Amino acid sequence: MKFIIKSRKVFILLSICLTGLIFTITCKKSADIQIVDLRCEYRKEPIGIDDRRPRFNWVMQSDERNQVQSAYRIIVASNAGSLSKEEGDMWDSGKTISERSIQVEYSGKALESNTTYYWKVRVWDKADRHSAWSNPSCWSMGLLDKSDWQAKWIGVSYNDKEFTRSADTIFTARGSPPGTPSPMLRKTFPLESNVKRAMVYVSALGLYELRINGKKVGDHLLAPEWTDYSKRVQYQTYDVTDMLKPGENTIGAILGDGWYIGTFGQWGDNASRGKNYGSLDRKFLLQLDIRTEDGESTTIVSDESWKGFADGPIRFADMFLGETIDARRNIPGWDNTGFDDSEWKAVHVFPDPGIELVAQMYEPIRVIDTLRPVTVTEPDPGVYIIDMGQNIAGWCRLVANEPEGTKIMLRHGERLTEEGGLYTQNLRRAKQEDIFITSGEPYDTLEPRFTYHGFQFAEITGLSKKPDLSMITGIAISSYPEQTGHFECSNPELNQLWNNILWTQRDNQHGIPTDCPQRDERMGWMGDALVFAQTAIYNMNMAPFYTKWIRDIRDAQTEEGEFADFAPHPNWDRPHLNAPGWADAGLVVPYRVYQNYDDLRVLERQYQSAKKFIDFVHKSNPDLVWRNHAGNQYGDWLNGDLIKSDSYPGEGATMPKDVFATAYFAYSTNILAEMANLLGIGSDAEEYSALADSIRQVFNDNFVSGNGEITGDTQAGYVIALNFKLLPDSLKPLAVNHMLRRISDYDGRISTGFHSTVLLMKELTDWGYTPLAYDLLESHELPSWLYPVDQGATTIWERWDGWVKGRGFQDIGMNSFNHYSFGSVAEWMYRTILGINRDDNHPGYKKFIIKPEPGGSLTWAKGEYHSIHGLIRTEWRSENDRFILNITVPVNTHAIVYVPSDFPESITEGGEEAVNSPGVQQVGMSKNQGIFEIGSGTYQFESKYSIHPKK
Ligand code: BGC
Repeated sequence: MKFIIKSRKVFILLSICLTGLIFTITCKKSADIQIVDLRCEYRKEPIGIDDRRPRFNWVMQSDERNQVQSAYRIIVASNAGSLSKEEGDMWDSGKTISERSIQVEYSGKALESNTTYYWKVRVWDKADRHSAWSNPSCWSMGLLDKSDWQAKWIGVSYNDKEFTRSADTIFTARGSPPGTPSPMLRKTFPLESNVKRAMVYVSALGLYELRINGKKVGDHLLAPEWTDYSKRVQYQTYDVTDMLKPGENTIGAILGDGWYIGTFGQWGDNASRGKNYGSLDRKFLLQLDIRTEDGESTTIVSDESWKGFADGPIRFADMFLGETIDARRNIPGWDNTGFDDSEWKAVHVFPDPGIELVAQMYEPIRVIDTLRPVTVTEPDPGVYIIDMGQNIAGWCRLVANEPEGTKIMLRHGERLTEEGGLYTQNLRRAKQEDIFITSGEPYDTLEPRFTYHGFQFAEITGLSKKPDLSMITGIAISSYPEQTGHFECSNPELNQLWNNILWTQRDNQHGIPTDCPQRDERMGWMGDALVFAQTAIYNMNMAPFYTKWIRDIRDAQTEEGEFADFAPHPNWDRPHLNAPGWADAGLVVPYRVYQNYDDLRVLERQYQSAKKFIDFVHKSNPDLVWRNHAGNQYGDWLNGDLIKSDSYPGEGATMPKDVFATAYFAYSTNILAEMANLLGIGSDAEEYSALADSIRQVFNDNFVSGNGEITGDTQAGYVIALNFKLLPDSLKPLAVNHMLRRISDYDGRISTGFHSTVLLMKELTDWGYTPLAYDLLESHELPSWLYPVDQGATTIWERWDGWVKGRGFQDIGMNSFNHYSFGSVAEWMYRTILGINRDDNHPGYKKFIIKPEPGGSLTWAKGEYHSIHGLIRTEWRSENDRFILNITVPVNTHAIVYVPSDFPESITEGGEEAVNSPGVQQVGMSKNQGIFEIGSGTYQFESKYSIHPKK
């Protein structure tokens, strides 16, 4: 008995020890890393993608400092059950020794059309301990081969006598064929049992809104968005499993003109309806794949069995001109079962247009915000002006309680006249007018679908009394990828500026990056995108959107190799080609995508086009000065010479065209050499790097004198030559002095245009003149960023002097209040105020630089950037001569941190001497800063450092 008791004790003791041992061993084995964000092709659980080798990214978190991934294992399965059993029937990467947690390419069995795949990942940390499996994720493939499509292009043809059409639809723009009502299409079909999975693939030449059983499908607007329709059109995929039911089902579609047919484009009669792509017929394509619980598969396609109606409530819809809706013609129930469609006719089947169908792989245009107007005024009897308080791209939703047949007109504009009326002159021919004819039903909700306007103010006429603000909602729409950046500091005016920049970006992303959202232009101007790309990338997850637009750039390239000035580039007589600084976006934008996201694929796909372009410029300019085939030579667009003000020099800001063009030729050739190098095309890398050297030499021989003066003697010239690394080392300090001289010639004001403005700020900082850069940033004098802020701007103006007190508006021919180019200064704000910088030796922020430089009036600043590797945060403040800097570094990355200090030896981290702090390694020191390398984690550096904020 005794023995038993004894041995029981021993047994219990042993068990405790053993459990403890097992516990310790298991603890040691599992890493302190959580996988928190799984992405396939940059997006969470995307559906309907068509890349056959999609790439995976994941973001990790850990409480441990300096944590890195040493290996990963990815499993991809064809069903969720297999995935949970760790059976990778499509792909099992096995334990792969690698730090790579982004852009990991799928390398399993061939992926099939219209199929959902499931995946998860686990990682090993720096001590080779594995993490738990991530949560499962999935993605689905679209229709990968042309032969997958059984659908036919359908619509209603207005030449077809079968269709009746009322005659009240005559809205024309400069001799355009008249607009016609939006066609409505429908089809009913039975289902015998519950639906297990239903995916619908939809496209249009024109625009479509898709409806199933009385409800709108998805939240896309203006689908399928803009591409070069003569070559390709996008399709969208929607999971409609929950929208279908056993019994009778109905699909409906309404079609609009959009970019395919509408009066889009500003040049001459190109703006006529039907001119851009040679057709007035809206065409629709749909394929619905249904799998029911009884194991059956059904495919519903657009074909001759559908019915159409050509005389519905949308009487006219055009992107520039606006939309007319006659609510008396609403057809209740048309998109649902039980509707009597005996008056509807069989649709028209169009021949296959023979263009490519590609999946939309970036975030769609959707509603991003709804706003209540802040005021309503009545400048004239019965004329009401509402102020949204924010310049947006979108439209108004109006709820009306008016007798049947009341015609209400909404006109949209960005500004008011001095008398308080709507200012529309800067819209040129884009009327931006919506007309609603009421049904007489109480609470008629009137809202356009197939147009958008750039506006802060709307004028409403036709109402019987002053509208209540609750009757009107501003609907802001955008292709809005998730926001990745944020900025805040102690100067509220700079916060307003940053906010204005963000809104301008939101207002200028509608399938393509546009110059402006209001006047008769709204084109994918490439120079604007080139200068703004880095800011755009700080603000939002731009890679998928730019990947699509870079393909538009390729589609717009000529056979000879010229890149266009904007993309897409409709089939006009092609006068807008190859302008220096615009065409170059064909290299610069993909390269920015590579630098920020470590995306080599985008370079691979662009490489041949980029090379063709450089070869073309080279062949056209054998002496290496880019003068021939330089298109419209816009140069450093909208520089100081275009400012109309007595107190501002009227000349001296314009960089001579050949100087500007040749600088870009060298810059882009250098990027091409880098691309070749990265893609492992050694011979090209050598050839183009030698060519870039020769162009630089020619630039110096032709335009740079021995004292560093550059032809034209402009601020822009020095800035661009320095930033593009065109000058020999010996001349750089001289050029910097010239740059400073030219700034003081303008009484400390800028005279730079679109291309050189942010570069001026960067060069000032790089050469140690950050205080001057702050002076420029915080200046309220014309031209400056805060001048418009003082005038109440809520977006960035196209021109420094779009409106000037006492002088009024600039030239009506070109004066947008929603153009992002000068907003590229946000890049400097992220880099210099927040201190968040790429390290281009380690693309995708695998390693980066934190280097905040306090200055100006600022006493604190904070912000963040969600890099592809995870969240980077910085926050600094100055308190009683102490500088406190908080930093967050994502798992699997490293940062070099520059801590400003009057006594660098005094720098602490987490309260300890920085040099002794865990995970902190000192890598340098100078008299006013300590330099440290840190791994992942959160850190608090503190140093003795007195800043003297300007009042
Ligand atoms: C656009 C610009 C564009 C330019 C070309 C303008 O009309 O609005 O932003 O870059 O043309 O110079």
